[in-house]
Amino acid sequence: MEAMIQQIPEISKNDSSCGFKETQWMKIDKSEAPNKYIEYVDEITKQDQIIAHTRYSTRQLRLQPGNKVIDVGCGAGKDLSRLESMVESNGQVCGIDLSREMVECAKSRMNHLPNVTVFCANASMIPIESNYFDASRCERLLQHIPEPAEVVSEMVRITRSGGRIVITDVDWWSSTISVPRSVDRINSIIIKDVVFNQHPSIGLNLRGLMSKNTNIEEIEIFAQCMYTDSLTVADDLLWLGERGKMAVQQGLITEEEYNQWRETIEEMEENGSFVFTINIFTVSGTINKKQ
Ligand SMILES: C[S@@+](CC[C@H](N)C(=O)[O-])C[C@H]1O[C@@H](n2cnc3c(N)ncnc32)[C@H](O)[C@@H]1O
Repeated sequence: MEAMIQQIPEISKNDSSCGFKETQWMKIDKSEAPNKYIEYVDEITKQDQIIAHTRYSTRQLRLQPGNKVIDVGCGAGKDLSRLESMVESNGQVCGIDLSREMVECAKSRMNHLPNVTVFCANASMIPIESNYFDASRCERLLQHIPEPAEVVSEMVRITRSGGRIVITDVDWWSSTISVPRSVDRINSIIIKDVVFNQHPSIGLNLRGLMSKNTNIEEIEIFAQCMYTDSLTVADDLLWLGERGKMAVQQGLITEEEYNQWRETIEEMEENGSFVFTINIFTVSGTINKKQ
């Protein structure tokens, strides 16, 4: 694997954005608490619905023993060992991520698997030769990327003709909490207008994004509504409290409105009526390079 990695552009701790406009998930290494992000991706890993969805998305890669597969934006490496078990010890698994903190964490977790390589790289400029992989995937990465089509092009470039591409992401804008009318407007601002990412509705746009790339065929879409009836889980997964406070800081709502909303959803939790939903999409296709 090492031989196939082209020269990796140096990404320093102070320049992990590689020149792009930054959002929180692009500057994990500059954060005072990078562990917060690792804990976040670890927490997601424990959710049954995410586990089931990832099982589907990894099956869509149609991996065989001996195959080579890449997880782009692999984070702390939640899916690398599953991929390794699919390609077995004669296959190769590669994980790349922009964040050094994520890469170091994933590396330490994959120490025992010699055919798994993890390194720091930008998904928009993957330093790997063309047509190297049998399959490429990314999960909840594109929402953080300024130009998602560039990443899709890179994933197509490094995947051989006949290989598979599988992309998973969510649609934040269709997420809901079943709040009473009195706080509906405040709720909508907190859930939809406070954004942590470049493309909150990317999940819904994945199919269109893949269709625009003429080297991808047999495109299939799978969607699932994920939900939780626990405010604690919603706080952990969605940073609801932090979103609310950001809405106040950004002048979108007043502190009083935030408190009114928070009290309402806490009461809903107590009386058993709290439900949060979000839609997750996986779009897969087969690579066909015409020339
Ligand atoms: C929400 S996490 C998802 C991680 C992992 N795919 C998972 O499912 O647990 C998004 C990841 O994308 C990474 N990321 C953001 N921008 C990136 C870029 N331009 N190139 C590579 N990785 C990037 C972040 O460092 C972070 O680890």
